Amino acid sequence: MNHVTPPTYPNGKSGAHALRPEVESFYHLPHGGFAGKVCQGTACFAARHFNPARWAEGAKNNPRVYCLGECFAAPAKGQTHPRPPVRVCSKEGIVLGRIAQGGARTLAAYQKHGGYQALAQALTGTPEQVLAAVEKSNLRGRGGAGFPTGRKWRAVASQPAGTKYVVANADEGDAGAYIDRYLIEDDPHRLIEGMILAGFAVGATKGYIYLRIEYPQAGAILEAALAEARAAGWIGAKVGGTKFSFELEVYTGHGSYVCGEETSLLRSIEGKRPEVMARPPYPTERGLFDRPTLLNNVETLVNIPWIVTHGGDAYNAIGFSKSRGTKALSLNSLFNRPGLYEVEFGVTVRHIVEELGGGLRGGGTLKGVIIGGPIIGVIPPHLLDTPLGFEELAAIGAGVGHGGVVAFDQHTSIPDLVEHVFSFGAYESCGKCTPCRSGSGRVEEIFANAIAGDATKADLQECRDLVTALKLASLCGHGTGLARFAESILRYYPTEVEPCFK
Ligand SMILES: Cc1cc2nc3c(=O)[nH]c(=O)nc-3n(C[C@H](O)[C@H](O)[C@H](O)COP(=O)(O)O)c2cc1C
Ligand code: SF4
Repeated sequence: MNHVTPPTYPNGKSGAHALRPEVESFYHLPHGGFAGKVCQGTACFAARHFNPARWAEGAKNNPRVYCLGECFAAPAKGQTHPRPPVRVCSKEGIVLGRIAQGGARTLAAYQKHGGYQALAQALTGTPEQVLAAVEKSNLRGRGGAGFPTGRKWRAVASQPAGTKYVVANADEGDAGAYIDRYLIEDDPHRLIEGMILAGFAVGATKGYIYLRIEYPQAGAILEAALAEARAAGWIGAKVGGTKFSFELEVYTGHGSYVCGEETSLLRSIEGKRPEVMARPPYPTERGLFDRPTLLNNVETLVNIPWIVTHGGDAYNAIGFSKSRGTKALSLNSLFNRPGLYEVEFGVTVRHIVEELGGGLRGGGTLKGVIIGGPIIGVIPPHLLDTPLGFEELAAIGAGVGHGGVVAFDQHTSIPDLVEHVFSFGAYESCGKCTPCRSGSGRVEEIFANAIAGDATKADLQECRDLVTALKLASLCGHGTGLARFAESILRYYPTEVEPCFK
């Protein structure tokens, strides 16, 4: 296997902002430019009737701004709102426990609550012990696909010794999700500790945190936390006084939803045009700079210190069916009680909507819920008793996704929702596959015509054909996710869709 040396950018820092023109044109926000703008994400779309003037202001954005992580105060303008309420509804509070108690932004605050003790403990043992604990925990990736984390870690650890990387996916592009944002802003050292533990377990010596540009406060807090961790000897040469060395830096994205997809994300860090790549090879074998790479979502990594401290069996004892542990959820502003919640897998969607969220604001009638969307199936009201679990939600065409919970009410017409989601899909397509590049824009156009009363049954059939093409011929989850969304609409809301086509 070739070893490609990471490029050094003009400021002498690998992974810094130095975009070649052909790369820059891929991104929507290569130079920022979203400050003070109204968000156009799905949570803000669902809440647009609360402030139509603000939503109309956002519709003029160029470039568009999708998801500022303020879905609890939608439609959102800028990141100026007070922090969302945080409630732990599981015994352990593995993910949000510390945040619910006010957070731990500094090293001193983190260490006061046992921070870096999992790492100190792991460093007295072997990487294999950490790996075994993660495998036993049956933790599954929280970035959307639910892939077994232990299996992924084992795959990287099994690669021949040499340069390996750990990457945290903090791109959190799913509109409606603001979990990773607050995990980073209020508990940054836990992500850092999880990443160092991952590096120790798989034999990596360098890590990157790929952070979306739309989270500037998270970036500043992370940089400060990294400096503290370095000064304390947890990052750099001889971590904790041992032979293990680990470097860690933040790479800030440039505004592209598809860069949350793992192959696109890695190419983005490499300074290449970040189109999605076919797999195999998987990043675990040939990832960043062609080296074995462990890529995990922020929430996945945040679970690791708890697993190391309490053991894989203790983690595996929590949860439901094949979905072990707890899940953080972020509820949008349609609920009476929006905010961050940590629940044990197995609670029903009804429990989330009615008990945690307290039903809909203003006495609204629930029309549907999107968990981990928008490129995922919609859950209609008659399926609210489905439990929160990877397989259980997949069985009804939905998913756990990233855990952003977006409810929509009687003010959202289904054709409007389809036009919104496909407009997002077309705007964010990386352009590699024809059904996604051209088909998603065509579905958007057909639904815009249908809303205007100018679409036929033949147009609806064309949409059905395009959805089939998206499902069968998309290289990544962006295209297949759009198909899943459309299939759920056609299956659960035919009485709202079909009459729009004459
Ligand atoms: C279009 C697209 C966008 C994605 N965006 C994210 C994201 O913002 N954050 C994330 O963690 N995973 C995202 N993913 C999933 C990643 O590709 C990858 O599966 C995940 O980060 C792996 O981490 P995990 O195993 O801990 O879940 C996205 C996938 C697709 C197809
Ligand atoms: S499905 Fe869309 S986003 Fe994914 S690789 Fe194809 S064109 Fe790119």
